[in-house]
Amino acid sequence: MSWLVSLIVRSLLNAYRFSVLIRQLPQGPQPLPIVGNALSFQGKYDYILRLLQVDWPRDYGEIYCVYMGPMCYVSISSPELLESILKSQKLLDKGETYRFFSPWLGDGLLLSTGAKWKMRRRLLTPAFHFQILNSFIDVFNNESQILCDLLDKRIGNGDEIAELNIYPFIANCTLDIVCETSMGVSVKAQSRSSDYVTALYRIIQILMERFAKPWLAINVIFYISKQGREHRRLLTTLHSFTRNVIKQRRQSFEKNQAQFIDDGEIKPKGNRRALLDLLLAVEADENNAGLSDQDIQEEIDTFMFEGHDTTTSAICWFLYCMATNPECQENVWTELRDVFGESDRPCSQQDLSDLTYLECCIKEAMRMYSPVPHIERHVKEDFKIGDYLIPSGSDIILLLYGLHHNPRLYPNPCKYDPERFLPDRIEGHHPYSYIPFSAGPRNCIGQRFALMEIKIVVSTFLRRFRVASPPTAAEPIPSMQGVLKPINGITLQVYRR
Ligand code: HEM
Repeated sequence: MSWLVSLIVRSLLNAYRFSVLIRQLPQGPQPLPIVGNALSFQGKYDYILRLLQVDWPRDYGEIYCVYMGPMCYVSISSPELLESILKSQKLLDKGETYRFFSPWLGDGLLLSTGAKWKMRRRLLTPAFHFQILNSFIDVFNNESQILCDLLDKRIGNGDEIAELNIYPFIANCTLDIVCETSMGVSVKAQSRSSDYVTALYRIIQILMERFAKPWLAINVIFYISKQGREHRRLLTTLHSFTRNVIKQRRQSFEKNQAQFIDDGEIKPKGNRRALLDLLLAVEADENNAGLSDQDIQEEIDTFMFEGHDTTTSAICWFLYCMATNPECQENVWTELRDVFGESDRPCSQQDLSDLTYLECCIKEAMRMYSPVPHIERHVKEDFKIGDYLIPSGSDIILLLYGLHHNPRLYPNPCKYDPERFLPDRIEGHHPYSYIPFSAGPRNCIGQRFALMEIKIVVSTFLRRFRVASPPTAAEPIPSMQGVLKPINGITLQVYRR
């Protein structure tokens, strides 16, 4: 009995200490008892984005506390504080809300922690080597062409234009790219429907519902709900698809092992390798601890999730920026003509380096519409940054969208101005003032992959089409749904060049 009393006393003391320390940090809006600030959000993703990342940082500063029921989130949008957090080896654990993804992604790189994450990160890093990324250029080109051919058909004959929501077109294109490059499998999302693709779209919707409806956050309620039962079925579809692909690739890998490994190193020689082949090769290399089939599956599922929604968001918001800033679109067009002339040849590695103005436009679009608007970290032991002590048990929300709209760093933050990223203009900027791919040891492993893909898809698109904003269509509303998604899509007019 005495152990129970001591346990209760210890928990109460801890809770008291936590509440004293947390109150010493700058506070956000006044929380209500039990629900905290949860009612302010009213479950609307667009409203949450504006409130959390723009209005409250303006009213309460670059660090403030916000309460969701019993949980306290320390919200941060200053580059100096973000640098201390993201560089720290003590703050590598993800926040509480990431747990919704774990039945799907397991201990893949995004979610794993501690020694397991370190080992996986070390094993996976060579798979994103530039030589391997270069071997994906033809996939990026081919799928971009398919996208453009589809749009061309939608435009019809002669001088007609198409007015359409581009989001699903881009989503299918990036999905084809990530399937082909990760698994070496063509799901042809751009031309037909498949159970795997349907399940992938649907599971992300259900996971977002769990964020919006607090009762679905509770596992027992979720798993007996309609969404929870569907979630189970979707997981079976998703996992059995990736498991089968791994099985088949393993068989062919074992037959042709000699072609994959050269002096103990994985070499992308001859035919293109999918990321999956490289993971199979890691396992076969006796110098490494290796990855089991289950480990590989978790990583491939993670690539499918992280490598698809994010790039879709980036490309769609970029095209929207082009449509709403015709003078920038014309500058891009001029650069494309300088680099490619009249030719319709595919984009090469050299072209990617030459498209410097396009790169500024992409960066500025990713500043205004950060594809991953926020990330989270869990504080396992008290953490001191500057004058602040963040107590163990709290979660930190790193407001990437808020950072990129911080008027101290970006005067007139809602103006689309690609020239902000010209080399002489960024000189002297704080290195953590622009971090769409996060930074530090847990930054995005797919950053270079994503930038190459985005540049090839949008340059191919803009070589064939001009986009404009339809005069009568409502402005797309960005919202926080894991990635920055437009509520009701992005409708654009697409003209043939
Ligand atoms: C525009 C595209 C992308 C953006 C903006 C983006 C952004 C990010 C961000 C902000 C993180 C940190 C997440 C966190 O700390 O919670 C991250 C992590 C990650 N990303 Fe990306 N990402 C993009 C594309 C990709 C692609 C194409 C892949 C793979 C094919 C990828 C794979 C990953 C993985 C595996 C992690 C976890 C890394 C780790 O924890 O060690 N991402 N990404």
